[in-house]
Amino acid sequence: MRQPLVAGNWKMNGSRASVGELLVGLKAGIGQVTTAEVAVCAPAVFIPAVQAELDGSPIKWGGQDVSVHASGAYTGETAASMLSDFGCHYVIIGHSERRAYHGETDQVVAEKFAAARAAGLVPILCVGETLDEREQGITEDVVGRQLDAVVAHCGIDTVGSGVIAYEPVWAIGTGKTASPQQAQDVHAFIRGRLAAADPAVADGIRVLYGGSMNPKNAAELIAQPDIDGGLIGGASLKADDFLAVCSAANR
Ligand code: 13P
Repeated sequence: MRQPLVAGNWKMNGSRASVGELLVGLKAGIGQVTTAEVAVCAPAVFIPAVQAELDGSPIKWGGQDVSVHASGAYTGETAASMLSDFGCHYVIIGHSERRAYHGETDQVVAEKFAAARAAGLVPILCVGETLDEREQGITEDVVGRQLDAVVAHCGIDTVGSGVIAYEPVWAIGTGKTASPQQAQDVHAFIRGRLAAADPAVADGIRVLYGGSMNPKNAAELIAQPDIDGGLIGGASLKADDFLAVCSAANR
């Protein structure tokens, strides 16, 4: 039985004041609402504050990106060991915004996955097609290619120690959610693709859905057999909304 995971991706949002308020709200509410695992992925600069507030609570935290390099002259980058040092459990890898706006290729994403694992972090690997790719009927080609690159570079066992997030690019921040069936179909494809390499890994790995998931649509999505939780953007910025999504992930 896979324990659902609900992870917030704050993206580049927040201030010391708003982050403080959000964390207090989450801590106060989380005990009562869910049996799912819960995490927040914060901008790097807020991670010390997140650690200070969440240490000792059931909520885990993580980063949104990581360098492929271990340390050195890489201005502006954050090393995986630095995230670990501040208590991060997770790190998002290969988010479509990184792929689209920062030129991250499948190879770079695979190297970041490896760097995260080497520092003991659990990578949340994002995959997903654009609207154009969906309309061309090549969703499985794209998602398969994105997965295969990481399996080829890191090995199936290493991939199995991470989490996958299916995030159709056309559903991110648009208010347009994939239907539960559309999402389930791609989640089943992802599990099948991994099963070809190792059925036990495919069975055990959590595959999250991301893309305009909110308190209204979360329960129906998470009820699908291959959807093991969510990666939440906009709805993770308000404690009440995020807690409502967490409670929809009760199993
Ligand atoms: P939204 O929930 O704002 O659509 O963002 C989803 C996402 O990109 C999470 O990583």
